[in-house]
Amino acid sequence: MAPSTPPSPSSASAPAGRDPHDHADRAASFDRDADLYAQVRPTYPRDAVEWLLPAGVRRVLDLAAGTGKLTEVVVDLVAAGTDVVAVDPSSPMLGELSARLPGVTTHQGTAERLPLPDASVDAVLVAQAWHWFDVDAAATEIARVLRPGGTLGVVWNDRDTAVDWVARFGEILHRGDRLEPAAGHVPLTGVGDPFTAVEAATFRWVDRLPAGALRVLAGTRSFLLTLPDDERAARLAEVDALEATHPDLVGRAEVELPYVTSAYRARRR
Ligand SMILES: C[S@@+](CC[C@H](N)C(=O)[O-])C[C@H]1O[C@@H](n2cnc3c(N)ncnc32)[C@H](O)[C@@H]1O
Repeated sequence: MAPSTPPSPSSASAPAGRDPHDHADRAASFDRDADLYAQVRPTYPRDAVEWLLPAGVRRVLDLAAGTGKLTEVVVDLVAAGTDVVAVDPSSPMLGELSARLPGVTTHQGTAERLPLPDASVDAVLVAQAWHWFDVDAAATEIARVLRPGGTLGVVWNDRDTAVDWVARFGEILHRGDRLEPAAGHVPLTGVGDPFTAVEAATFRWVDRLPAGALRVLAGTRSFLLTLPDDERAARLAEVDALEATHPDLVGRAEVELPYVTSAYRARRR
């Protein structure tokens, strides 16, 4: 849930040597400002998570769980006694998760080398992170830890760029980004022989943010997290200008940010 007043965006420098066009540097960028990520990044709609979760799960892995945006919804939906486990390579992100969800077991690890036994979980869910994985290695590892009949669920929140100010916001965030040049995700197709065909569904919803939070949200994007300080500051100033001038934003105490959530699921054979 969004805070009633926006937190201050970080003015700390990006760790030295991070390259905004390098895949590994971008995937590792989330160590910075994990607290702000937890405060302003969107949750996931309940109906999408229900669609992803198989009935009667006993153990669920939230892979690339970050600060626990998806984990929180999972914990809310599953029956009491269900074991919810979170894996992420970022210690600061997992620290935020543990502070919010102390009942969730966390492991530092990656999708390509999961710190879990074979056939030990009924569902592996991945939110807003599949594009950071080595997909072949991750699919092999996920197939290893899933029980037969278990579910792989992958989900992304895309901002709805049919809305004018949202399209302009996206242009500020993605201009010059060679890794994520557009606002939307790349649809998930096959994940290999261990899995059944991928099914897809979309869910529309609106997130509500306090005025001023758009620049904080922008600052949590991996591209801005890795841009040189002067370029990052210039992008944040563009976001401020958008909020101060766009007729749909100016003078509003609260910003309504529409999302299209795309969910994909496949079953472990
Ligand atoms: C955009 S965040 C998404 C976090 C969370 N799932 C959410 O929806 O808010 C991407 C996450 O992927 C993690 N990540 C990056 N590379 C990874 C990898 N190879 N294996 C597992 N997680 C990875 C990052 O540390 C970060 O927490």
